[in-house]
Amino acid sequence: MDLLEVYEKRRSVNFFEKGREIPQDILENIINKAVLAPSAFNLQPWEIVAVKTKENKEKLCKLSNNQEKILDGAITLMIVGNKNGFATDSPVWEEMLISMGGNKEAVEGAQGAAGFLYGSTEERKLKFAESNAGLLAMSIMNMATYYGVDSHPMSGVDFEGIEREFNLGEGKNLVMLIVLGYFDKSKELYPRRPRRLYKDIVKEI
Ligand SMILES: Cc1cc2nc3c(=O)[nH]c(=O)nc-3n(C[C@H](O)[C@H](O)[C@H](O)COP(=O)(O)O)c2cc1C
Repeated sequence: MDLLEVYEKRRSVNFFEKGREIPQDILENIINKAVLAPSAFNLQPWEIVAVKTKENKEKLCKLSNNQEKILDGAITLMIVGNKNGFATDSPVWEEMLISMGGNKEAVEGAQGAAGFLYGSTEERKLKFAESNAGLLAMSIMNMATYYGVDSHPMSGVDFEGIEREFNLGEGKNLVMLIVLGYFDKSKELYPRRPRRLYKDIVKEI
């Protein structure tokens, strides 16, 4: 499947085939390719909670305005942005030191810059977490399409409630949910709604 086909095929699927699981190797392929998404300083300030059990799906569904897709889909991913993902304890800095041939000064310089750019205000921290994890989310949905898996992003949920009830932890910001599964072909997918195009959204300056 080429990229254009992925873009044209991906839809937010409302009805999932109940009980159809996603093979673990496919799920891992989706995630392991999706993480090729870009991130600031390659810091990858994201985590994913994969909700699989009936009990946890029910708990999540209640905190998501009872959107039943969560119960019907195979799995729901919580896409979590780490507001402190620039800090010196990020495992990525260690890898960067190796990638930069042990140049400690360069890595420390990058740490200082990242700390200022992404950590100097609460708003910057939030932007850092949400922008990077948002790119991962899109990447996951595109890779799911590539592997023949359908998806549905959701933000019509009780963010604070989910963060609290699932103990996401300090600085962990739920960015969105993505249900993964297989479209229930006995149902009809509503037609794709039109998009505003270049002439509508681009201001050339
Ligand atoms: C961040 C985000 C949050 C969304 N939240 C919900 C939601 O809570 N419930 C829902 O039914 N659809 C939700 N949607 C799906 C959108 O309605 C859908 O993407 C849009 O109508 C375009 O349809 P398409 O994805 O099939 O092209 C969400 C989409 C995005 C990107």
